Amino acid sequence: MSGSDFDYPPAARDWLLRYGDKLPQFNPAFASLVGQVSWEHGDIQVLERVVAADPGSVVRLLRVANSPFFGLSKQVDTIQGALTVIGLAAARSMLIRGYLLDTFGAADDDVLANDFVMHCIVTGVAARLLAAEAGVAQDVALIAGILHDAGKLLMVIYARSLVERIYAGESTGDDDSFEDEIALFGFDHAELGACLLDHWALPEPMVQAVRRHHHRELCVTPLERTVFAANRVADHLIARRGAQDPATAQARLDELAIDPARLAWLEERVDAELSLMFAMNRAGRPGG
Ligand SMILES: [Fe+2]
Ligand SMILES: [Fe+2]
Repeated sequence: MSGSDFDYPPAARDWLLRYGDKLPQFNPAFASLVGQVSWEHGDIQVLERVVAADPGSVVRLLRVANSPFFGLSKQVDTIQGALTVIGLAAARSMLIRGYLLDTFGAADDDVLANDFVMHCIVTGVAARLLAAEAGVAQDVALIAGILHDAGKLLMVIYARSLVERIYAGESTGDDDSFEDEIALFGFDHAELGACLLDHWALPEPMVQAVRRHHHRELCVTPLERTVFAANRVADHLIARRGAQDPATAQARLDELAIDPARLAWLEERVDAELSLMFAMNRAGRPGG
């Protein structure tokens, strides 16, 4: 562990360290994608190089571009062609989706893992969009947002049956799960995810933002507040598409008092990512 002076509940850290060498490794390609590729300004050549360096990304990108979602009459067989079809922002999210699935050893058609991954990516994109006005570095907000529920993905790999018990009922969003997790594990996914980020030697402010993301009263730094808000915004945007209870998500969003015009602006910017991820997740469902 790093030299953090934060006291993790020993149970979460011990549970994590039990897995030793089998723990997921932080993927440097993920940081490279986040750091090198400008999010707003189309830089297709840079993204093309990042994709080309990872055979798994090439396969995934071509599969997505040729999926029924885009309804192409002719197969696309080049990276550039796939990026043009998908669009740069959605393509980056698809790549991050792939990195997360690979990092945590989840299959492309694992519905539960994909739902968690979609929520993570939307939280990351929302955190990045909220970062500027909060005075937070955009790439830091993006990474912290994407990884804020890393603990959930760990639980999916290492404690599948317990996680399925927790999420077997109708999901009403991220903030509902942690009390059930504490009852079953003795800790929640926020603490577990924070331990993993610390194990990966990611910066302490990011670790704290992950640990505190369910507790508004504990979120004091701009990064912690940004990730907290982004998590709720993500729940709301996903709930609007029918995957969660919209009333609960709306009530939690109201607590943030985000200006409706600002929310519409956020929604517009994650729309391409959300539409594509919903289509991909549905494709992984039995009969979907
Ligand atoms: Fe969470
Ligand atoms: Fe979350």
